[in-house]
Amino acid sequence: MRSPEDRDAVHALRQDRLFRIYHAPDTPWFVPYDRAHPDDVAPRKPVYVLEGGGGHVLATARLDLRGSHAVVRLVAVAAEAEGRGLGRALMEGLEAEAASLDVRRLCLNAQGAAEGFYRRLGWAPSWWPSHSADPRSIPMTKWVARAEVGERKVRAA
Ligand SMILES: CC(C)(COP(=O)(O)OP(=O)(O)OC[C@H]1O[C@@H](n2cnc3c(N)ncnc32)[C@H](O)[C@@H]1OP(=O)(O)O)[C@@H](O)C(=O)NCCC(=O)NCCS
Repeated sequence: MRSPEDRDAVHALRQDRLFRIYHAPDTPWFVPYDRAHPDDVAPRKPVYVLEGGGGHVLATARLDLRGSHAVVRLVAVAAEAEGRGLGRALMEGLEAEAASLDVRRLCLNAQGAAEGFYRRLGWAPSWWPSHSADPRSIPMTKWVARAEVGERKVRAA
């Protein structure tokens, strides 16, 4: 990631908005958050962020590039910024980025509470190779529109 501040903000968002909710201690789904997880340092797994005023990171997601398809992971919007279109802007930015990288299909594992969000953005439940084995999650996919020249809405962190 680009700066220590970005890295800290991304870790904080993931912990607060994903791991605290979906992988909490004292549940069968407990997963301790690992700031040094190998997936984050592996090649072709860029982390993207959206900033608010003052350069604060308000939303983040990772794109795991796998040739003609890519997996969107760890989508999180700050609690104070929820419901204001940032999630949509983040995902549209990711789609534009994927299109520019010749990715044809995007895949993700949706938590039940977020399924409606993804449906709203044109995603549909669909099997994809090596989707999550977590029975709570819903495999979803979306075809990527052809790349257009235009403003990028996300930047690599
Ligand atoms: C899910 C999440 C990313 C949505 O981000 P957001 O910034 O609040 O979403 P937006 O404001 O951009 O909403 C985009 C559209 O989706 C809809 N939407 C948002 N959350 C929704 C939900 N949980 N169910 C159904 N629709 C939803 C909005 O109404 C909006 O529709 P509109 O554009 O027609 O008005 C955010 O709530 C979040 O970070 N949640 C916690 C982490 C999480 O669950 N991540 C996903 C794990 S798979």
